Amino acid sequence: NARILADYQPSDFAILSTELEFDLADQATRVVNKMHIERITDKAQPLILDGEQLKLISVQLNNIELSESQYQLNETSLTIDTEAQDFILTVITEIDPLNNTALEGLFKSGDAFCTQCEAEGFRRITYYLDRPDVMAKFTTKVIADKKQYPYLLSNGNKIAAGDLANGKHFVTWQDPFLKPCYLFALVAGDFDVLRSSYTTVSGREVALELFVDRGNLPKAEHAMTSLKKSMQWDEQTFGLEYDLDIYMIVAVDFFNMGAMENKGLNVFNSKFVLADQSSATDTDYFNVEAVIAHEYFHNWTGNRVTCRDWFQLSLKEGLTVFRDQQFSGDMHSAAVTRIQNVRVLRAQQFAEDAGPMAHPIRPEKVLEMNNFYTLTVYEKGAEVIRMIHTLLGQDKFRQGMDLYFQRFDGMAVTCDDFVDAMADGSGIDLSQFKRWYSQSGTPELIVKESFDKQQQLFTLTIAQVNKPSKQQTEKQDLLIPIKLELLSDNEKTQHLITLSDSQQKFEFSGYSVKPIVAFLSGFSAPVKVNFPQREQELALIMVKASDAFNRWDAGQQLLTRYIHALVQDADFTLPQDLVVAFKQILTLPGDAALKAEQLTLPSFDELVEQFEQIDPIKLLDALKQIRLFLAQGLASEFHQQFQRLSGRAYQNDGQSIGERALKNVCLAYLSHLSDYQSLTVNQYQNADNMTDTLAALHYQALTASARFSEQIKDFEQKWYQTPLVMDKCFMLQALFADESIFNKLAVLEQHPLFILKNPNRARSLIGAFSHNNPRYFHCLSGRGYRFLAKHVAALNDINPQVASRLITPLIQFKKFDSKRQAMMKTELVNLSQLSNLSRDLKEKLDAALGN
Ligand code: ARG
Ligand code: ZN
Repeated sequence: NARILADYQPSDFAILSTELEFDLADQATRVVNKMHIERITDKAQPLILDGEQLKLISVQLNNIELSESQYQLNETSLTIDTEAQDFILTVITEIDPLNNTALEGLFKSGDAFCTQCEAEGFRRITYYLDRPDVMAKFTTKVIADKKQYPYLLSNGNKIAAGDLANGKHFVTWQDPFLKPCYLFALVAGDFDVLRSSYTTVSGREVALELFVDRGNLPKAEHAMTSLKKSMQWDEQTFGLEYDLDIYMIVAVDFFNMGAMENKGLNVFNSKFVLADQSSATDTDYFNVEAVIAHEYFHNWTGNRVTCRDWFQLSLKEGLTVFRDQQFSGDMHSAAVTRIQNVRVLRAQQFAEDAGPMAHPIRPEKVLEMNNFYTLTVYEKGAEVIRMIHTLLGQDKFRQGMDLYFQRFDGMAVTCDDFVDAMADGSGIDLSQFKRWYSQSGTPELIVKESFDKQQQLFTLTIAQVNKPSKQQTEKQDLLIPIKLELLSDNEKTQHLITLSDSQQKFEFSGYSVKPIVAFLSGFSAPVKVNFPQREQELALIMVKASDAFNRWDAGQQLLTRYIHALVQDADFTLPQDLVVAFKQILTLPGDAALKAEQLTLPSFDELVEQFEQIDPIKLLDALKQIRLFLAQGLASEFHQQFQRLSGRAYQNDGQSIGERALKNVCLAYLSHLSDYQSLTVNQYQNADNMTDTLAALHYQALTASARFSEQIKDFEQKWYQTPLVMDKCFMLQALFADESIFNKLAVLEQHPLFILKNPNRARSLIGAFSHNNPRYFHCLSGRGYRFLAKHVAALNDINPQVASRLITPLIQFKKFDSKRQAMMKTELVNLSQLSNLSRDLKEKLDAALGN
């Protein structure tokens, strides 16, 4: 019963208003849902409401209770056979938030009630037309015990409040904006509140309220500052202002994803709200700001203009990720932000696009929608928007966006609607470009150069290869914007060319000597590039290209070549030139954060992506060899830099963050040398911030240091009461890189704080081990695979969404050698035989096993 994009039909009914009343109780919350419904097509269809895991108490049509013969009930729907055109339907249901471990719908996170309705969680609260193109005006009355739940929150503005009998109280909220039910939210609990305000550019005073667990107020400041920066950035960059009098954010510890943009009431995983010097790393600070911005930006790209159906998810997610990436680039180093985004794309999205769950950014077939909150829809979706930005240029992009909001404010629309608005607003034809929305897979560009000295003509021949996949046996040529720079002795010229055919020639005249090409500047398209440039050319691009991405990427390409050579032949001699190039980066002046990226080797995941099939241990050994080669060749330079940058008091400005990153990259190399073993131990003891503490422990884990167990124990004792840091504690231990890891995992699974029901905790142990401890995850005994499969099986019953995310490394088995493939497949087959197999896992297992 998968759904198909082409089968979309508008709803036969509209819901004009939805009045909800919640009487909150742990195991028996009563929900009264009074809907004003209107038939909007002339088809004589019955009304079919979605509902799952609900206990139906009663149904009334225009205030008259229906008998059981007047409706049909099954596991997923409530059908009412009525010919009425315009009526009030009141549905009363009872739900059990306490035992809702799937964390969809209404659930408890610690002592608080909260909701997660996207994508299809609202149907676990009440019977409803749970689809994004049904938009209603919501009024929500929340009733609960006043002592336990002093704060009762929902979307929009507070319109009434008061005390009730038996120590209860109520608050009523009304959201003036029409919205689909996936944007509904309710929170009830006892919190500390950080209050502030923001005056929008047109003078609207907005109350800002951040709700955190008691005692966490000091950790909420950074999120509040980030929110204000986001509000201002969206006004300045896109002319978009906030539209309600209040903006609330609640941080909870139990949450499946990062955060949720519910209208006026965001609910966040506390990981993306709480931060202070002693408990959060520089990366945590960055991520808090980025996720706060992302959810805020959704108010326009997502809420004011929403999706017609869930196949259009990238309409809001790709666009909003693009917006948050631009924001982060403006707040920090644009170059480093871009490089980090590209790393994620290459390591994870490329893998997804090459695996059994490959899908276009607008999927065509969906069994469980939660499976499509993917790197493809989000990150590749953002790259697609970025390409539009590149093709149109800043100003026309803005014109397109303005038209998009003019046309579609208050509506539920499609990706095609978006691209049409961008084309009409800018006057640029994007018809071929639209294929990016329907085609899966990573295109490969094959680039050849030729030079005619006599004619002084330099020619690039570029071909695009879009490999057929199982899901799409025929692929079309895409429109690909390619930025590049030509470097010659006395000048550098930048070009934007667009490839639209399967192969095209691009000529550049006036060159007496062949120029050197810095190709795909800024990573202007999400493609792989096959361009056999000479090593000396790459070395030159590393220092001369204007674009920081090009400089960084040239270095990564060189490293990648040597790693490939080592995989082929472990005796391959690495050239001394590499040490020279690294020494230059390390010692010449330049931005420390960028240097840190340049000195970082491509990750295991990025490399796996470049092979058809690989023995993971061979690859890890090659990585180890090149790491040691650089560490040994540059030991004194790394040490010098490390010392220069050590011992400074913590500051969190951009420069200090960059220098910390560079220092810790030096430490990472040095930690592999026996002469420098004391450095991580000392750094742990002396650190005055979490970035340095974590780096020290991280490198000890990766090198299986003898001091690790003692220092991690100290760390655990210090942070036992702080859940987000305990997540880090589990994560670090999961990375310990020697045989003893399996015994350690067995102990950790029994740890009193290892709570599988908490998604952050589950990911911190199981996810960290299977993603970031590849040597033991892929160990030939099969113990790594079995460890993951065992927990996926347990989570299938507890929280299918989390299970379905964690299974990712197993379904990518095709990338590995046949022995490992067989072992991984065995685990998948076993999982597919689980009783009660969730839709989430079933969809992935069917895809992976070719059913
Ligand atoms: N719309 C949210 C965001 O991108 C993600 C929520 C997805 N939740 C889910 N259960 N699939 O910020
Ligand atoms: Zn989003």
